[in-house]
Amino acid sequence: MQSPIRAVVFDAYGTLFDVHSVGALAEQLFPGKGEAITKLWRERQIDYTRLRTLSNRYAPFDEVTRDALRWTADALGVALSADVEQKLMQQYAKLAAHADAPAALQALKDKGMRLAILTNGTSAMLDALIDHAGMSGTFERVLSVETVRQYKTSAAAYQLGPDALGLPAKEMLFVSSNAWDACGATWFGYTTIWINRSGLPLERLGVEPDATGTSLQDVVRFVEART
Ligand code: LAC
Repeated sequence: MQSPIRAVVFDAYGTLFDVHSVGALAEQLFPGKGEAITKLWRERQIDYTRLRTLSNRYAPFDEVTRDALRWTADALGVALSADVEQKLMQQYAKLAAHADAPAALQALKDKGMRLAILTNGTSAMLDALIDHAGMSGTFERVLSVETVRQYKTSAAAYQLGPDALGLPAKEMLFVSSNAWDACGATWFGYTTIWINRSGLPLERLGVEPDATGTSLQDVVRFVEART
């Protein structure tokens, strides 16, 4: 039997908050190289979270993000002054919410859903984002992996959700636009939906999220069907 959904747990970067503006700024600062910078930067950032978790060498997500940016600049042979580095890093603190986020969050709240965020970001990074997006008071809990010093997809990171909300993972819908995160959360035991914003193929990991959608409106539809 399918579990009822009693809470919705969101990933942050790319899922609720739009990382596109980082690319736009990178393109403005380094014409013709913005796309390459953001692609390598994001890949390195996630690689570093995994390497650090596998080797038990946690460093906070803002440090990892900065290190990944510096590596990317080295790799592409672009000069990264302290000022430019700061500009790009600061952009991460003021990402806009995705256009579909406010209405979907409100609809879920209207249904009495408990809402949370579970993110690789530090709580300071998330506080800044939530404040900037005018989302204060929207989430019952904002859970950062900094408390367990292990990044997603480690089980300790995903365990933050059941521990904080006091519900079995299956009774929580985990929402991520990052396919690897949706797969990791499925492995852990959440009910999951992958918001495939960029039309990517499913990861070949031998696991499939319970549902796939294209916008956060699909989260509302999923919850409606399961409550
Ligand atoms: C997060 C990244 C993985 O918010 O998107 O955890």
